[in-house]
Amino acid sequence: MTTIVHVVGARPNFMKAAPVLRAMRAFPGVRQVLVHTGQHYDQLMSDAFFDELDLPTPDEHLGAGSGTHAEQTAKIMLGFEPVLDRYTPQWVIVYGDVNSTVACALVAAKKSIRVAHVEAGLRSRDRTMPEELNRIVTDQLADLLLTPSKDADVNLQREGIPSERIQFVGNVMVDTLLHLRNRAAARQAPLTLGVDGTPYAVVTLHRPSNVDRADTLESILSGLSEVAREMIVLFAVHPRTRQRMQAFGLEAPGVRLLEPMGYLDTISLVDQAALVLTDSGGLQEETTVLGVPCLTIRPNTERPITITEGTNQLVASSGRAIVEAVTGVRQSPHDRARSRRPEGWDGKAGERIATVILSPGTPPA
Ligand code: UD1
Repeated sequence: MTTIVHVVGARPNFMKAAPVLRAMRAFPGVRQVLVHTGQHYDQLMSDAFFDELDLPTPDEHLGAGSGTHAEQTAKIMLGFEPVLDRYTPQWVIVYGDVNSTVACALVAAKKSIRVAHVEAGLRSRDRTMPEELNRIVTDQLADLLLTPSKDADVNLQREGIPSERIQFVGNVMVDTLLHLRNRAAARQAPLTLGVDGTPYAVVTLHRPSNVDRADTLESILSGLSEVAREMIVLFAVHPRTRQRMQAFGLEAPGVRLLEPMGYLDTISLVDQAALVLTDSGGLQEETTVLGVPCLTIRPNTERPITITEGTNQLVASSGRAIVEAVTGVRQSPHDRARSRRPEGWDGKAGERIATVILSPGTPPA
């Protein structure tokens, strides 16, 4: 019996873990244990995704919750250690770049339990971003680095990681997207929101660099309000962002503020959008696959392939830059049919990951 522990904790982890859990079910003699750290705990940030993604109920819930980075990371580590003692897994699989990822990778590595990192090797080269520190540390600790794109392999080799630990498997987020695209379309979110047939923009924002300073957030919101004079702007507001807007007394006149959306509604809405404005990592990838123009409100991205091969472009965190970039996109409409899918973004990454981990002698298809 091989025991595999999967660690999820925050919203972007759920769609990455689902295809791996599914693919591993096809292997006999495997016990899968799903651990939810509780980094995200609101119904709309966590539970909603379990049903939509067909994720099993977590075997263990650590209830870590929010806090400073040190508090949150420490709480997750303290909760995770006895779980490993109880299950004695052969592998711990961690996903993405959130605090849960690095916390559990560190606990497992110190117990000499093998760690596989899904979405290894992405680098923004911006160490002010908490996720960049999480990526660097997790990749140094992991025994198996499963990369979503070839640029990630190059990043890891440059950091001196031996090539036998690096395995290109493709993008597991895209597995979920392709698996659920039709179910998402059936949700008809644009119709429900009354924007069907009208050009609209979808906005998400939650990075500390965009929302934690009043002047930056104010400038971004004023840009969105200006865009809203020309087209419908739908803004699904992350809890962190909502708190900041309230604390700073900021509003976004003309912009339609929505609660955080589930996965299916998000994809349904994004698929029909004229453009997306975001600082999310996942949406940069999803818009590339869906062929929807994406303006990423950040000075850098750990996912450069979405620029070179996809529909993404970077925009400064200022109202003026946002308005100019939106005008640019609207003046030169993107031809969706010409969108490309990077290598390995084919819906089969979960199967390749399962094969690499559970049949190590077999080269991934
Ligand atoms: C985290 C990840 C980020 C990811 C994002 C997706 C880290 C360092 N950051 O950022 O990489 O893109 O998740 O959402 O791991 N809150 C709630 N309810 C919740 C969760 C959070 O109200 O269910 C509020 C709390 O006030 C909390 C704040 O949001 O303090 C921030 O939550 P946290 O998990 O620390 O980081 P995110 O900004 O969500």
